[in-house]
Amino acid sequence: FKTIDDMDLDGKVVLTRVDLNVPLEEGRVTDATRIEKIVPTVKDIQARGGIPVLLAHFDRPKGKRVETMSLHQILPALEQALGQPVAFAEDCIGGPAKRVVAALKPGDVALLENTRFHAGEEANDHTFAASLAALGGAYVNDAFSAAHRAHASTEGLARLLPSGAGRLMEAELKALDAALGNPQRPVMAVVGGAKVSTKLDLLTNLLDKVDHLVIGGGMANTFLVAQGVEVGKSLAERDMADTARAILDKAAQGGCVIHLPRDIVVAREFRAGADSEVLPVDQCPADAMILDAGPQTVEALTEAMETCSTLIWNGPLGAFEIEPFDRATNAAALAAARLTREDRLISVAGGGDTVAALNKAGAAAGFTFISTAGGAFLEWMEGRDLPGVAALQT
Ligand code: 3PG
Repeated sequence: FKTIDDMDLDGKVVLTRVDLNVPLEEGRVTDATRIEKIVPTVKDIQARGGIPVLLAHFDRPKGKRVETMSLHQILPALEQALGQPVAFAEDCIGGPAKRVVAALKPGDVALLENTRFHAGEEANDHTFAASLAALGGAYVNDAFSAAHRAHASTEGLARLLPSGAGRLMEAELKALDAALGNPQRPVMAVVGGAKVSTKLDLLTNLLDKVDHLVIGGGMANTFLVAQGVEVGKSLAERDMADTARAILDKAAQGGCVIHLPRDIVVAREFRAGADSEVLPVDQCPADAMILDAGPQTVEALTEAMETCSTLIWNGPLGAFEIEPFDRATNAAALAAARLTREDRLISVAGGGDTVAALNKAGAAAGFTFISTAGGAFLEWMEGRDLPGVAALQT
C-alpha cells in the first residue's frame, strides 16, 4: 500500500482518519496515547504542504448527535499534543464542515465532529462517503485501531480519493508483520483472558503460526478441565472442554508447545489482599478459585521465552487488576521487557486490557511495539483481513 511518501499532498486538503476514541473522565482525557501517536502523521502532511483535516469517531452514538460523545471534548488534549490551535467543525459534512475547511491555510489543522453522528458512517453509505470526500483532495488513514470496521471514513473514503497509510498505520502493520506475518522464529504467543469461547479463532489461527503458545487467565482453567484437572470454583467454560481438548491435540500434532499453568494461586474471595496460597495445579480446593499462575509456571514460561526470537502478547495471565493476582503477568511482562532490551526478543503487544496490564507492570516501555488497537489487534491476530487496510491496498 501507499504511504504519505508516495502521495502528492502539496496544496491539498488531506482528510486524515485518526482514532481519537480515548478514555474520558468528567470531560477530561485520562490516557492521551492515541492522540500523541498521530502527531507524526499530522506534522508530515503539513511538511509536505498538505492541510490535515482530521476525521474520527468517538464512542458509539449510533447515528445520532449525542453531546456527551462530541469530539469537542478532545480538542484541548489534541491542541496540546500538536502544539497548535485546531479548528473545529460542528458537523463532519455539509455547511459547518465546508466553512471550516475553506478558511484553512497551509500550516493549519482542523478536526471535524464525530463521524458516527451520521448513520451513513457505520452503514458505509456511498452518499455520506462522497460528502466527506468532497471536502478534500486526498485521504490518509492513520487509524489502524479502527481498521476492523468497514465504515465510510475507514473504508469507503479510500475508494473515492487518492489514498495512503499514515505513519502510525505503517508502524502498526510493520510491527504485526514482524510478529506474525514474517517473524524471526521461534515465536511465542501469550494469550490470556477470561474465555476460550471469545478467543477460539485466535487460538486456532495461532496454532499454525507460533512455536510456543502460553495460555493464561480464566481460559487456562477451561484447558485444565479438558485435562481432567479439578478447578474448584474457578471461572471455567465446562462446555468448551471438548474444544480445548481438540486444540491440545492439534497442537501436539503440529509441533506447537502449549504452556498451561503448572502451579496456581488460589483464594476463596476475589478482592484485593484476599488470603491466597500457591498450590500445585491439580490441588485447587473445591471451595477456592484460581486467580493467577504460580511462580513455577512463570519460571517455565520465562525459560521458553529465552529460547524465542519473537513474542506476541494479548491478554493477562491472571486477575491482574487486583493484587496479589497480578504477579504472574508482571513477572512475565518484565522478563519480556528485559529480553527485548538485551536485543534477544522482538516483542509486540496489543489489546485494551493487555496494554493496561503491561503499563501496570512497568514493562510497556521495554516492548518493541505496543499497539494502540484493541479489537483490530485481536482480529489481525485471528488472521482476518481488516477492511480499512484492505481498502488502502486496492
Ligand atoms: C477502539 O476503541 O477499539 C476503536 O476506536 C474502535 O471502536 P469501536 O469498537 O466502537 O468500533
